Amino acid sequence: FQPPFPPYDPTDKSGFSYETVAKRWPVILTSIVDQLHRENHDLHLRPPIDGSDSAHSEEESLRVEAKITEGKAIIEKVGKLKYEMARDHVMEPIPMDGEAHVDFYNSELENLAKASKDTWFKAPWLYAECYLYRLLRSYFVQTTHWKDYDPFHAQKLDVFAKSGASIYGIAKIMHELESEKGALESDPSTLKVFFQEMIQMCLWGNATDLSLLTHMSLVDIEKLQSVGKEMQAARKEFIMRDDQDKVWEHLTTVKNGRVDFVLDNAGFELFTDLVLADFLVTYTPYVSKVVFHPKLIPWFVSDVTPPDFNETIACLLRPTSLFTTSSSSSSLLPSPEQQQHLRKLAERLRQYVSEGVFAMSVPGGTGLGGGLTTTAPTTAITTTTTTTMVKTTTAATTHSLAEFWTAPVPYWDIETYDRELWELLRGSDLVVFKGDLNYRKLTGDIKWPSWTSFEEALGPLAGSFPLLSLRTNKADVAVGLDKEVLVQIEEKDANWRVNGKFALISFLGKEG
Ligand code: F6P
Ligand code: MG
Repeated sequence: FQPPFPPYDPTDKSGFSYETVAKRWPVILTSIVDQLHRENHDLHLRPPIDGSDSAHSEEESLRVEAKITEGKAIIEKVGKLKYEMARDHVMEPIPMDGEAHVDFYNSELENLAKASKDTWFKAPWLYAECYLYRLLRSYFVQTTHWKDYDPFHAQKLDVFAKSGASIYGIAKIMHELESEKGALESDPSTLKVFFQEMIQMCLWGNATDLSLLTHMSLVDIEKLQSVGKEMQAARKEFIMRDDQDKVWEHLTTVKNGRVDFVLDNAGFELFTDLVLADFLVTYTPYVSKVVFHPKLIPWFVSDVTPPDFNETIACLLRPTSLFTTSSSSSSLLPSPEQQQHLRKLAERLRQYVSEGVFAMSVPGGTGLGGGLTTTAPTTAITTTTTTTMVKTTTAATTHSLAEFWTAPVPYWDIETYDRELWELLRGSDLVVFKGDLNYRKLTGDIKWPSWTSFEEALGPLAGSFPLLSLRTNKADVAVGLDKEVLVQIEEKDANWRVNGKFALISFLGKEG
């Protein structure tokens, strides 16, 4: 598919792409270096293993030494990367590290080189940003002791821990809903009202994204996460496109269906995704299965990985160890009532996971038919431009359907890049794409005029399956807007595309 406009890139210094390469990525790289320094420091301080088995303790101290040395080497690589990025150096090929998409990233890099666009300040933003996280992954996976290390984990957990007030607030709403269950069953119009509340909660959950908000105070976090009817009414005017009614209309035509969530961020946002999923399964006759699609590697700082998913449910089950309820200095412990509300909700989530009502589409996960890893032809991909993929099939190998989400591929190429995943999604009754990066991939991060229809911007993906995007605006691309709305918004806040205060709820049904 050849879109009629080019993708965003940092050659336009007034765009968010330029600010991202010049300012935001260096901050993110520095935070990785700081985190690794902390880890290495802690390793130095680790007390020697106690006991008589001196051979064992010697082995352990050798292991710790080796880990520290590898940690230092990663720090050096990240430092070098930051230096080269700031000086607009050529982006190096991703090493053959045994993980997904190396050939694809590198062949795309070759294409960019031919067009003299293979440097940090010239490459298309979407490609370069995916490449950045994939390259970082290669630094870790090539070591012995840091293979599974997520440099953003501590940050994700820290912000989640500060989300207590909002989490208890939502647990209370879910508790109140329980007492209305009988009434809801016989009154679809009230059900719709609650659905709207849930969907808005899930939408604004996307505001807590750590790659944008690198340093948030507790008060900032609570403000972003505030829920409840009043807050949502106040925020309604910030929803620039609102397809809630269309989604609801579509859902009511489904019976015992399956909803897929292409996840975005861990912590609070994931919690809101789980709550929306819980609402759909527990209170409506429309949905009886939910499949969650996480990222298999640390991604865009705060995106959900499979360990994050499991940890989130575990944290919700023992909340007192993590969440307090207030931003005041003397943080409060949750009341017994609050604890009970959250416990009930968390137990239900756990039960859905253990029964397979909720599944994760990961290797060995509890997906459809017990995990979604499949044996399929290698998806060796060559590209002709930065936006069009041509697939060449080679020898059979094992790949996971979850790998696709960390390829730098616009979603109009899902069918070509990973036919099996495309077919899986075709079987869904609604695929919910969470967040900003998913929106950029849905629209190819192309400089579409903002009045371009959502359908046109989706390219060949349009109509493949019912699709809902819930996104707070954190990048330049935006489509499907009325010209009138655009004029008003420009007057109100010139930064509406990127400051995270505005949002889009975009729905498109399945063709035919
Ligand atoms: O840094 C680029 C970016 O894609 C921004 O557009 C956005 O701030 C962030 O990363 C990802 O946001 P989200 O977590 O909502 O996908
Ligand atoms: Mg994200």
